[in-house]
Order: sequence, then C-alpha cells, then structure tokens
Amino acid sequence: MKKKWNKWIVTFFLGVLICLLGACANPFAPDELLEQETTEDPGEGLIVVGVSQVGSESIWRTAHTASIQEALTAENGYYMIYDNARQKQENQIKAIRNFISQQVDYIVLSPITETGWDTVLQEAKDAGIPVILMDRMVDVEDESLYAAWIGSDFEEEGKKAGYWLQEYLEKKEPDEDAVRIVVLLGTEGSTSVIGRSRGFEYVAAKNPNWEILEQVDADFTTAKGYEVMKQLLEKYPDIDVIVSQNDDMTFGALEAMDEAGVTTGKDGDVILISFDAVKTALEKVGEGRINVDIECNPLQGQYIDMIIKNLESGIPIEKKYYTVERIFTPENVGLVLDDRLY
Ligand code: AHR
Repeated sequence: MKKKWNKWIVTFFLGVLICLLGACANPFAPDELLEQETTEDPGEGLIVVGVSQVGSESIWRTAHTASIQEALTAENGYYMIYDNARQKQENQIKAIRNFISQQVDYIVLSPITETGWDTVLQEAKDAGIPVILMDRMVDVEDESLYAAWIGSDFEEEGKKAGYWLQEYLEKKEPDEDAVRIVVLLGTEGSTSVIGRSRGFEYVAAKNPNWEILEQVDADFTTAKGYEVMKQLLEKYPDIDVIVSQNDDMTFGALEAMDEAGVTTGKDGDVILISFDAVKTALEKVGEGRINVDIECNPLQGQYIDMIIKNLESGIPIEKKYYTVERIFTPENVGLVLDDRLY
C-alpha cells in the first residue's frame, strides 16, 4: 500500500515538473492549446454539421467536396464531420444515423440516388435535425423531410446539350440523314442522370432523324467510360454522336477512340458532347476534341453556408436553389480557361 502511494506522489510531482518546463519553454503554450481545441472539437458556439458525400468518383466531385470544406470551417463558425460514402447508399444511411446519434446541428447530404431515403430522413426529422440536400435530389413522400436543396437544373443541362446538337447539325448537315447517337450514362438512379437523360430525350423526340442506338451505364468514371466506349465502338462502326454525361467518362471514351483511330470534335469523325466543364475537359474543348461541354457547377459550399446562417438567424429560406451554369464550345472557352480552378 505504502509503495503505491509513493508511486502516485512521484508521478504527480513529475507531471507538475513537465507542465512547468513546457510553459517555460513556450510562454504562449496555454493559448495555443486552447486554439487547437476550438478547431479540433466542437467548441462553444460552433455549428456542428455532418456532411455525407457520395464519394470521389470524378473531378467534379473533388471540386464539390473542396467547396463544402472551404465553406464549413471553424473560422466561419462551423465544426464539420465529413463522411465519404464511397458510392454506397448504405454508407450514407449509416453516416446519417451516426450524425443523429452525435446530435449534430445540421445534416448536409448529397444523395447518391433519389429513392430510399424516407426512413432515415424521418429519423433526422424526429431528432429535430434539419437536413440540407446538395447536388442531387431525393424522391420522398413528405417534402418536409428536408429543409432545402441546392444543385443544378439537370434537365435543363440535358436540353442544352440537345438544342446545341440540333443547331450544330442544322448548320453542318442540313439534310435529314439519320443521326446515330450513343449515350454514356452516369450512376443509375441519380438525379443528374435522370435529369440529363430526360432533357436530352425531350429534344431528341423533336428530331425524328435522331436515332439513340444505346444508352449504357458507365458510372461517371473514366475506367468505365473507356470500357463502355470500347464495346460500343466494336458494336456500332458508324456512330455520329457521343453524349457522355460527365467529363471523366469522356476522358475514358477519348482513350478508347484514340486506340480505335476514331477522331472527335470540330473536324473529327464523331461529335462529342460532355457535361461538367472541368478544366482538363475545357482544355480539350479548346483543342477542338470535345465539341461542347455543358457546365455543371460544383461550387455549392457558399450556398450551404448561407442556408445554415439564415436558418440560425430565423431568416426565411427558399426550398430550392439553382446554381448558375453555361455551355462551352471552342468559340467561347478561352473566356474561362485561365480562371478555372478545378
Ligand atoms: O451529380 C453531379 C454529377 O456527379 C457530375 O456530373 C459528375 O461528374 C458527378 O460525379
């Protein structure tokens, strides 16, 4: 017993000595420690936000994540808990349940697909945690399960692609020859795919000579874009137009076409339409290899910040916010290339 007490006394004095030495070596140590605590822990006054991101499948997604992380900083009044779902809805549901048990103030969710959210969003609502959706939408019975949504008008993006093609063909080949089209689709069931497909098909239906040969799932990734394009080239030797629903799949498709000796773009064999407008794709628009890139704006962090700050101050918010987006061709891409950060 006595031995144990001696051990405690020695440990206590050693501890005091170490603390004193630390303070002497650096007179600012206590403040620094405090500062660290406020950035690492949800300190007093910080708004705690759980963010569930789809994954990291594309350059667009990386820019989207960066935009959220840049907005939800401690300096800006937030403590963010970030979760990457790696393309799995079950991971997103698990993350949301974790956020609920941690009693976060807000949940920010980029849902991989539209369906399957009613139960978990009801759980968030029951726990009194507002959910803000970004990028993609959910298909739920009760719209009060989310407070607001910020994202792109995907259907409009699809229409932009269709109307651009219609105008381009009118100028290039005014005869009514059949136009043979293949479509590389992104993640099945996602709002971006549903909207872009619906928008493009709407314009296609107005052009009876357009023939959509096949629409194939390539999951928004370069690897799948390559694989799918390779198969399509073997199957259809006379493709006129490729609609690739994001730039990453476009890069893969370009690789497959290079290998097959098929040229694309302004003076190429095939018309190539892409979506997102990330810098590396815009460079290819500039080189004339991609005919048109329909912009999808990933810079949504500032909107999330604004929505949360308004909710905090009791200022009414809109249910839906749309990002501003343009289309880029070799003629106008020079205007944005130098300033494109992603
Ligand atoms: O939902 C937006 C889409 O998801 C982007 O077009 C794509 O690149 C991303 O992965």
